[in-house]
Amino acid sequence: MKALFINGSPRKNGNTAKLLKRAMEGAAEAGAETELINLYDRSLNFKGCMSCFACKLKGGKKGICTFKDDLQPILEKAVATDVLICGSPNYCGYPTAMMRAFMERLEFPTVNYSDYTKPLVIKKIHSATIYTMNCPDETVYKQMNYDILMDNSANQLGVFGPTEILRSFDTYQFSNYDRYDAATFSEPHKAQVRDTQFQQDLNKAYELGKRLCEEG
Ligand SMILES: Cc1cc2nc3c(=O)[nH]c(=O)nc-3n(C[C@H](O)[C@H](O)[C@H](O)COP(=O)(O)O)c2cc1C
Repeated sequence: MKALFINGSPRKNGNTAKLLKRAMEGAAEAGAETELINLYDRSLNFKGCMSCFACKLKGGKKGICTFKDDLQPILEKAVATDVLICGSPNYCGYPTAMMRAFMERLEFPTVNYSDYTKPLVIKKIHSATIYTMNCPDETVYKQMNYDILMDNSANQLGVFGPTEILRSFDTYQFSNYDRYDAATFSEPHKAQVRDTQFQQDLNKAYELGKRLCEEG
């Protein structure tokens, strides 16, 4: 059982990474072989879909992006894994640019231009997406249309098999709120959410990783 974790935040120890690492611990507890990829790692040089159409070529390799760059080996791992958990902060209403680049490269090769009803999926994958954000709760999430803008991206993983979303709201953004012009946010409130609700989200992430790997 292999479980791959993709961090779409530039912060390797931010909210998203913390949740992903807890999910990894849960997956390891379930006996999975785990790996975490940080998409913003400076050693990784890649872009989104380059529109090369290699994945649509007659007689070409299907279901996987073969465009040669640093993301390609990661995509090979993603289509061969049993469990895939992606994580991204909300950036201006959407998953981050690097997460979208990853999703384009993962998803487009599954789109079957000869028959949309038969996606070109190499292997069934059980997946989930973890989103973190300043947005305070589910109600505002819907008011801001994040349930469409964010969830549509996550739900694309459904082409590979069952998928789900874990949302972590009202996250602690700065290590020191005093240094920033951010009067909208009350630091004591953010600290309280970090010490209570976020701890529960960490537990949810652990259970998510464990459950997905147990279910296979
Ligand atoms: C460029 C940028 C844009 C952001 N835009 C939003 C936004 O539109 N809505 C929101 O709820 N949070 C927004 N945030 C807050 C982050 O989503 C939040 O702090 C998140 O937990 C950061 O994740 P990280 O700690 O893993 O980096 C934004 C943060 C940054 C840096």
